[in-house]
Amino acid sequence: MKKGFFLPVLFISLFAFTQNTIVLNADKGKDIINKNIYGHFAEHLGHCIYGGFYVGDSNKIIPHKDGVRLDVIEALKKLKVPVLRWPGGCFADTYHWKDGVGVKKERPSMLNVWWGNVKEDNSFGTNEFLNMCELLGAEPYLSGNVGSGTPQELSDWVKYATHPNGSSPMTDWRQKNGRPNSWHVKFWGLGNEAWGCGGNMKVEYYANVYRQYATFMTNWNNSDRIYRIASGASDADYHWTEVLMKELPANMFDALGLHHYSVIDWGKKGSATNFSEEEYFTTMKRALLMEELVIKHSAIMDKYDPQKKKALAVDEWGGWYDVEPGTNGAFLFQQNTMRDAMIAGATLNIFNNHCDRVKMANLAQIINVLQAVILTKDEKLILTPTYHVMEMYNVHQDATMLPVDVISNKYILGKDTLNAISASASKDKNGVTHISLVNIDANKAQTVSININGADYKTVSGRILRSDKIQNYNSFEKPTTIVPASFTDAKLSGNKLEVKLPPFSVVVLELK
Ligand code: AHR
Repeated sequence: MKKGFFLPVLFISLFAFTQNTIVLNADKGKDIINKNIYGHFAEHLGHCIYGGFYVGDSNKIIPHKDGVRLDVIEALKKLKVPVLRWPGGCFADTYHWKDGVGVKKERPSMLNVWWGNVKEDNSFGTNEFLNMCELLGAEPYLSGNVGSGTPQELSDWVKYATHPNGSSPMTDWRQKNGRPNSWHVKFWGLGNEAWGCGGNMKVEYYANVYRQYATFMTNWNNSDRIYRIASGASDADYHWTEVLMKELPANMFDALGLHHYSVIDWGKKGSATNFSEEEYFTTMKRALLMEELVIKHSAIMDKYDPQKKKALAVDEWGGWYDVEPGTNGAFLFQQNTMRDAMIAGATLNIFNNHCDRVKMANLAQIINVLQAVILTKDEKLILTPTYHVMEMYNVHQDATMLPVDVISNKYILGKDTLNAISASASKDKNGVTHISLVNIDANKAQTVSININGADYKTVSGRILRSDKIQNYNSFEKPTTIVPASFTDAKLSGNKLEVKLPPFSVVVLELK
């Protein structure tokens, strides 16, 4: 054999046989995956509320309860939506909740200045939202107006929603408006994007404003303790997190927010459906950045809160593209393809794996806006690929996270690479283990060898979400182009599991 020949051959053959490997540490579960990681977000924006959730109490065509679409409620119940953030977003810091209660025809209208200057008639307000959450079985997360409101206004909202009957003029007003008893409202946001549409504040200033608002948000008379969430950083603004952790008294907050969207370029976001592999790759790169953001923001929080008593609430996340051609540019209506399924699967794996700090996340947004799980058109409703991922993954809600060590092949495009495989696992209250796997590679199937430590499983079954083209989506004409199917490409033999994942697919396995 000629000198110099053997090494390259060895290298090439090693490379060819490089295999995705996962170690499932089935006996190392410690942290609970808070179900609120599977939370959603509904803003008064485009057709999220009006036309999405709410069609008005006099609608004769679409079945509803007090104006809330029953088809939407039925679909969302299957998702097990744990928490719903409302009324914004940027809208929240322009919203005056008192305009949205009482007799509907007497409620004043306003202009929705952030989202198209359309008329907001306030017909869907606090009572409608909180009653709808009860119908849905979801916990409400009210986002308070700190940007243009007053501490008194927010303090009154807490009283109206949570204080016992007969305890103040606010609760008398609630009774007059048809609701004698309080609702269960634990989660309260103090402003939204205070660094931007919520007032363009510097973090040092916001920290003071926060302390002032938080002081007057009391529910001492109520056994439900409120949970206060500070308006958090945008993306990699670590200074924002550092200052809040330093300046907010520990007894005045429970979580810091974080917003991160998977956007290619804010000036050129690209089509939601007609995109190239380069655009897909860049979107996934932005989506996977979530892991670095969570790790780095958490590391800052660790310095001040090593016991992880305070949570990171990623209260806006998802893909953001150009609006669908022919739709209002301010309504942020976009279609939802297999690319979005990849964002959802990979991001939820990140949140699951970091559930010691991430205790809530809210996909933006639930219906007809950005990475929606439901799209509606008049009386029609379709479920998006993102819906199906959220439904497949809901087995992780409140389960014990099982750590996974992942060695992944690379998804290569030009000179750039991303890990092709992402995974997370959990054990539910009945002792059943679930592993969620995503192969983001647009071209190659990936075989994954899973070594199981600390459990002796007898059976494996699973479901897969896949399609022939990454650009495929469910339309009103063809609503079931992409739906989960049963998955048979997982072979269990002793403590080894071998799984073959098609390109751009999401698989959830059940091990018993
Ligand atoms: O989700 C759309 C908008 O994105 C929200 O209103 C705002 O908080 C964010 O910038």
